[in-house]
Amino acid sequence: MIPEIQPSILRQEMLCAEMQGRPCGLIVFGASGDLARRKIVPSLFALFRRDLLSPHFYFLGCGRSEYTDVQYRQAVREAMEAEPSGTGNAERFLSSFYYLSGDYTDASFYEAIGGRLNELDRTHKVSECHIFYLSVPPTLYGSITEHLGAAGVNRCGRSVCEYLPRLVVEKPFGHDLASATKLDAQIHRHFEESQIYRIDHYLGKETVQNILMFRFANAIFEPMWNRNYIDHIQITIAESVGVEHRAGYYDHSGALRDMFQNHMLQMMSLAMMEPPPSFDAEPIRDEKVKLLRSIRPLQIAGPWNSDIVRAQYVSGVIDGIGVPGYLQEKDVGPNSQTETFVAAKAFVDNWRWKDVPVYLRTGKRLAAKRTEIAIQFRQVPHSLFASVGLDDMPPNVLVLKIQPEEGISLSFQAKRPGSKTCMSTLRMNFNYSDIFGAQAPESYQRLLLDCMLGDQTLFARQDDVMVAWTLLAPVLEAWAQEEFPLYEYPAGSESFAHADQLIRSDGRQWRSLRPS
Ligand code: BG6
Repeated sequence: MIPEIQPSILRQEMLCAEMQGRPCGLIVFGASGDLARRKIVPSLFALFRRDLLSPHFYFLGCGRSEYTDVQYRQAVREAMEAEPSGTGNAERFLSSFYYLSGDYTDASFYEAIGGRLNELDRTHKVSECHIFYLSVPPTLYGSITEHLGAAGVNRCGRSVCEYLPRLVVEKPFGHDLASATKLDAQIHRHFEESQIYRIDHYLGKETVQNILMFRFANAIFEPMWNRNYIDHIQITIAESVGVEHRAGYYDHSGALRDMFQNHMLQMMSLAMMEPPPSFDAEPIRDEKVKLLRSIRPLQIAGPWNSDIVRAQYVSGVIDGIGVPGYLQEKDVGPNSQTETFVAAKAFVDNWRWKDVPVYLRTGKRLAAKRTEIAIQFRQVPHSLFASVGLDDMPPNVLVLKIQPEEGISLSFQAKRPGSKTCMSTLRMNFNYSDIFGAQAPESYQRLLLDCMLGDQTLFARQDDVMVAWTLLAPVLEAWAQEEFPLYEYPAGSESFAHADQLIRSDGRQWRSLRPS
């Protein structure tokens, strides 16, 4: 157990900036679905309670389920009652909720939406500021945007328009490069890139946003943030949950598409990109894309010689409880070849990172939930303690802890009192909850608010998504061939032999998933 030092924090809150969202109407397609109930509505309510929702905000739910406004408000109220945050003031919040049912493929539904928006704009004194949120299966994205375009609600009706209608789309953005390109073309027929907000909820996490603050608001780390000082980087998103009730989607997706193409590569780009000239959307997104473009194509020399490996969980034990294997999960095909764990070794071919390996792993049903970016520094160049037998000192490790603990830790060596040469590894640890109290806001709060403010910084841009798919295209192609193995791991494992081999062959090892 490494002893911990709790830092004393100099708390200055002079650098906080938060603006209330602009008056707008949020039109949610799939408003009776799971995402709206679990994430969108509770996040809006939290914004409302923080006074970050404009008094001129309204919500128009659209979907196939039949509700009147009153029935929909009642359904939302019931869902909110299940929320631990309570429902104080809910009636005022709900009074701006409306619902329209219809068929997504029917043009008259969109005409009705247009009519309703005119009416609600007048009631709520909103001047044509509309956000269309697609909380529906991706197969419907193309047809909904087509109809929105045909109904003309994708444009603003004035000659001078400072607020173009926005379109929010959830991942997955395509299934591979070809489908992502096609989807993109469909959406771009009616919406410009500046109108499109592609959600990657990892970018809304406080600790992921903190990567930028940590790197670029401190002078002491950036000079060391390169190949001269850093030995390697490990990026981990480990989950102990399985596919839960989402196997219908997951079984056609798998860990590579579900986590790696988006969340993992987004975290990697934030941790490794060059400093942007300003904290604005385009400069930040430009740097992220440049980083992604510099990733060396993953080596897939053959089934047994790849820099990326995959596996699927079989039954096992997590926290003392037996859990079924992936193939036994509800809605999973009996012979499914879907991977639930991916591990990879990547390199970024640029001046800063040349030959620094980045080890990435993500999986479900692992021993513990842990998301982190660990920066392992090089060993000291020369140990003056070698002569007294202390030549094997652990290197410094800086960990950006994303979840479940949220914070930063730095391990270093220090003298232990007593003997002349006795050293200990200490860890300086900062946890958000200890310092800033309550849990960080749910990432959808940040993302919804930014969308109302027209700030695209935390949303994936078209080229970003395409570069990620391009990088993974050869992997998907290889994995479609039978000879590329799908290994197994028992639920509750930390890893599997071939993932270990990726890093061990370089004389390194994965960090443990368990709390140290
Ligand atoms: C989603 C994936 O994007 O992220 C899920 O589709 C995954 O499969 C989830 O479980 C993990 O998110 P979080 O915020 O719990 O780490």
